[in-house]
Amino acid sequence: MSSYLISGGRPLGGQITVHGSKNAALPIIAASLLHRGVTVLRGCPDILDVRYMLEILRSIGCEVLYQEDMLRIDASEIDLANLSRECIGKMRSSILLLGAMLGRCRSMALDYPGGCTIGARPVDIHLAALEQMGVHIEEQDEAIHCETRGLLGARIVLPYPSVGATENLMMAGAMAEGITWIGNAAKEPEVVDLARFLEAMGVTVYGAGTERIGILGKCRLQDAEYTVMSDRIVAGTYLLAAAGTGGEIEILNVAEQHIHCLLHVCEAMGCQVRMTDRGIFLKSARRLFAVEDIHTQPFPGFPTDMQSQLMAVLATARGETTIYEHIFENRFRTAEELRKMGADIQIKNNRAVVRGAAKLKGCQVSARDLRGGAALVIAGLMAEGDTIVENSIFVERGYQDICKDLTQLDARIRHCRDAHKGRIIGK
Ligand code: EPZ
Repeated sequence: MSSYLISGGRPLGGQITVHGSKNAALPIIAASLLHRGVTVLRGCPDILDVRYMLEILRSIGCEVLYQEDMLRIDASEIDLANLSRECIGKMRSSILLLGAMLGRCRSMALDYPGGCTIGARPVDIHLAALEQMGVHIEEQDEAIHCETRGLLGARIVLPYPSVGATENLMMAGAMAEGITWIGNAAKEPEVVDLARFLEAMGVTVYGAGTERIGILGKCRLQDAEYTVMSDRIVAGTYLLAAAGTGGEIEILNVAEQHIHCLLHVCEAMGCQVRMTDRGIFLKSARRLFAVEDIHTQPFPGFPTDMQSQLMAVLATARGETTIYEHIFENRFRTAEELRKMGADIQIKNNRAVVRGAAKLKGCQVSARDLRGGAALVIAGLMAEGDTIVENSIFVERGYQDICKDLTQLDARIRHCRDAHKGRIIGK
């Protein structure tokens, strides 16, 4: 089992450019299947979830060339017969393939994408909307069998602004007869990035970033070259790490409007935040303050993907904060690990009450999910002494090289295959 070994108690300092966004790259890679030709993506992050998605594309006959941060996908010829069910099961984001595959091949069977530790992750919103577009869906023995005689544009209103369902429908709409309107659509920046990529391929998209998106179907598609947006969650993770360690850092390539809500919370905790001509600068305070209630919401509200990382920082802030997790039903599991380090966190239903302790103490903890693992890394950087964060594979799903990035920001952290034999840096 691989782990991170962290020697805590040092403020972060320096500048960093964060890698491309996982949650933009995954739908964009799926959308490359819409076109019987070549897509070139720049800034695509080299992370586990992207590798799983590329394995799926290779299994159906795509030619995939990944060199440094340039990814070339040739989807001229695809055949679902060899679809890698193993990879499908590894990653629930594989549901994002449905819209593009139905548009291209008119049928697809995929195993129910696994839930994960943060929640059941149902796909009912995706399926109900695709049925409105002329897709016949049968669910048999844990698999979803979909087929269509041809996708039809429809006026759809989502019961919840699901990010993945919005993205799936945008891809299906690109291949449908007529125009597809998506009401109560997700407004996340990653949805907008997908829309920009679709436009680069020749699709006409209306209203991306608003709650009403229109997609004009059957556009003539073309080879496209596109640069994926930077990862706002990775950027937010590093800003919170600087906040929690009393440091000061500058993130060079993230848009303020993509993490405005998080920056507002950092200022409320006592950090100085300002825009520079290259990005965002944050200077922490000696000891942070707890903040009023935090509610995770769809964009532009506070992102659920930053909830665990904020909880770690609040664990030593002066006062008490209540965090309400409204999006995923099981996203407080990291609290148990933070308690081992001395955090005072009480969980009741979807509420976590965090009372700031004076200090965290380094110890051995286990990551349970992607963002929870990143939160434990932050806690290790804040803590007195050494911390081992086990199950680093969770973090590798969404962070290209968190050790390299944090070392560049003056942290003492290293990755090792077997922590029990490893030594903390500098010892
Ligand atoms: C995307 O997941 C992101 N993943 C998640 O990031 C992110 O937390 C989430 O959006 C919310 O912002 C990717 O983009 C690959 P949803 P997604 O559909 O699309 C319920 C990370 O850490 N729901 O907006 O799965 C669902 O259970 C990951 O990078 C249904 O009930 O999120 C959840 O409660 C974690 N039925 C809520 O909606 C459905 O058919 C939000 O889900 C679909 C969703």
